[in-house]
Amino acid sequence: MLTVSDLSVTLPMAGVPVPVLSGVSLTLPRGGSVGLVGESGSGKSMTALAVMGLLPPGARTGGQIGFDGHDLLAAPEAALCALRGRRIGMVFQEPMTALDPLMRIGAQVAEPLRRHLGLSRAAAAARAAALLARVGLAPPRVTPDLYPHQLSGGQRQRVVIAAALACGPDLLIADEPTTALDVTVQAQVLDLLAALTAEAGMALLLITHDLAVVSETVEQVLVMYAGRVVESGSTAAVFARMAHPYTRALFAASPHAAVGDPAPIPGVMPDPRARPPGCAFAPRCARAGGECTRTVPPLLGTDAHRVACFHPHAAR
Ligand SMILES: Nc1ncnc2c1ncn2[C@@H]1O[C@H](COP(=O)(O)OP(=O)(O)O)[C@@H](O)[C@H]1O
Ligand SMILES: [Mg+2]
Repeated sequence: MLTVSDLSVTLPMAGVPVPVLSGVSLTLPRGGSVGLVGESGSGKSMTALAVMGLLPPGARTGGQIGFDGHDLLAAPEAALCALRGRRIGMVFQEPMTALDPLMRIGAQVAEPLRRHLGLSRAAAAARAAALLARVGLAPPRVTPDLYPHQLSGGQRQRVVIAAALACGPDLLIADEPTTALDVTVQAQVLDLLAALTAEAGMALLLITHDLAVVSETVEQVLVMYAGRVVESGSTAAVFARMAHPYTRALFAASPHAAVGDPAPIPGVMPDPRARPPGCAFAPRCARAGGECTRTVPPLLGTDAHRVACFHPHAAR
């Protein structure tokens, strides 16, 4: 249903086009789920923004993004606008920025129902109350006439999820949906997202910097680094092998990996204006050899499991 093929994005920085995404491909079948994982700056949000047609001004794109017969990279803004909120729902990291502080939560969930589906005020209000109840926000504790500031962070994110799901989209894009929440609340919100999308046969594109988080939530994983996919495949295959040294480092850095204390990855991701010529991870990689600093390793393998590394790990 969603097919991203060889997506590239450059953004102007001080007037110079700088590549931020290169050769990103993914396939998300109807009802399927994909996790995009990588450190901050790896290109996860740019990938999501490209799908939604919300890239920053001056962005240049290459490749294709197919969504149910539409080429989203070529679609006019009006067509994208009609898809967003209706066929594609979105949940971002910070619920407070997604919500209007002056609007009651019931009205915020009802708004897309009125705008996209043309429901009457009463019908939209009734549907909004049901959606809020479905995400665990029900009277007497939470009523649709509350304002966002009267809720906790986790409850606010549940409102955002209810609004994103209101029109029954075919695809839900959740970009770090739990990063701003307490650890105990994070798992509940992720479980809710997985349950709701599965129940509605909705496809889920889940973005997180925490590799351990996706292991139980999505069917496929793409590990991104410096604007490229470095490892991808079924969640089972990727976790069984963790072939790319970066995938292992990312996993070891997760506070949820339950393999001792999280170990931060030494070094920093290269700035997109000054990426090294070969593998962008080579300067931080204990396994890097000569060719790694000269040639970008191609992403090789099958749909079940691909890795872009000249010295991959064989098995865990
Ligand atoms: N508005 C912008 N203008 C220029 N560069 C940007 C902008 N937003 C993000 N970038 C750069 O694009 C790259 C990818 O960023 P992003 O997709 O936001 O990463 P992630 O979501 O994985 O943390 C980073 O190098 C970041 O610095
Ligand atoms: Mg991001």
